Amino acid sequence: MRWAQRDLKYIWHPCSQMKDYEEFPPIVIERGEGLYVYDTEGKQYADIVSSWWCNLLGHCNRRINSAVKKQLDSLEHVIFANFTHKKAIELCEKLVKILPAGPEKFFFTDNGSSAIEAAMKMSFQYHAQTGNPQKKRFMALTDAYHGETLGALSAGAMDLYSRIYKPVLLDVIRVPTSDFEKTEDAFALHGHETCAIIVEPILQAAAGMKIYSPAYLKKIRELCDKYNVHLIADEIATGYGRTGKMFACEHAGISPDIMCLSKGLTGGYMPMALAAVTQKIYNAFYADYSEGKSFMHSHTYSGNPLACAAAAEVLNIFEDENILETAQENADYFSRLIREKFSSHPNVREIRSIGLINAIELAAKLPSSEGRLGYCIYREAIKNGLILRPLGNVIYFNPPLTITKAQMDFAAETAYRCLIKILPE
Ligand SMILES: Cc1ncc(COP(=O)(O)O)c(C=O)c1O
Repeated sequence: MRWAQRDLKYIWHPCSQMKDYEEFPPIVIERGEGLYVYDTEGKQYADIVSSWWCNLLGHCNRRINSAVKKQLDSLEHVIFANFTHKKAIELCEKLVKILPAGPEKFFFTDNGSSAIEAAMKMSFQYHAQTGNPQKKRFMALTDAYHGETLGALSAGAMDLYSRIYKPVLLDVIRVPTSDFEKTEDAFALHGHETCAIIVEPILQAAAGMKIYSPAYLKKIRELCDKYNVHLIADEIATGYGRTGKMFACEHAGISPDIMCLSKGLTGGYMPMALAAVTQKIYNAFYADYSEGKSFMHSHTYSGNPLACAAAAEVLNIFEDENILETAQENADYFSRLIREKFSSHPNVREIRSIGLINAIELAAKLPSSEGRLGYCIYREAIKNGLILRPLGNVIYFNPPLTITKAQMDFAAETAYRCLIKILPE
């Protein structure tokens, strides 16, 4: 039996209607190198979506590979309660130097959603232990996405993922993104009962790469201070240079109380995430054991040494190889290129760019007999060796920070050819 059929016999793929796979089976990838992955037939695909936005410095990056291999020969895993290891310590020492001033204690989890869960629980417990037990609710923005576990899904605002689960989700206070007045009203009305507001700083990625102003993020920071509400910055998708700054909070010059990191954290090598918190939050849990104030939360793979080795090497590479500076130069080139190619197409409603991320929002719908627009573009792009995974009607590019100009040319040209095949000018 061929690999794809063997896959379909047992595997239930994420975020997929498995019936689609009968007509368009999974692509069996055998190896990766830089921007590219290669299937079992040797066909090359340009991974312009960084494999769910996590591949940061190219597939099979030579330096990360050897850091992980080296770690593998000394320690693969150790329980992280009562034990520690050098790579976790090194990683935190490096991170604290580059994070916006504020978060300086690190709690390890093993994926983005679980970092959000930990952040929500920490904030709730902080208020309960500092004389504010009435603070039991969370605020989050419209168009938010924070992951798929029940707490994270409650904070998210995308019906596609949460509709069916509404009866079992938390009752989150929804704040309209970018509406300063309504945001002030929400804090005035609910600030007293709110532990934290969770935001994706500046860029709401899963909603279709929507961008809001730094001034709005600054406003949220001010309101959090006024009403004793924690600001949880979900930098899982925006961190590590994706928006042109190391962390998206830097666009607004603000610092959160809790920052969640994942994806680029390990260069996309290992499932690991962090909730970085302020000393003030940490102190509210610090007491004699008998007081019962500990954060009783754990994940088996917390602080996994292989993941920490990858994450520490990612930061070494940023330091040694001018990654941010080169990415920013390339970002200007890429956004100009995308605008030149796409802006005159009659179905392009808007083009949004930040860092190396570019999104093209389409106004069109296909007749229902022809199927879903995003999915049709995806299939056409795959035929042409490009991994585009539109978010609904939004085609986007979120490449590794090491992409070259020639690779950007290929991606923009191929995507445009696919678009006009599906939606002729
Ligand atoms: C902003 C944001 N938060 C949280 C998550 C969830 O991370 P994970 O898929 O690792 O659970 C994602 C994943 O795409 C994300 O984009």
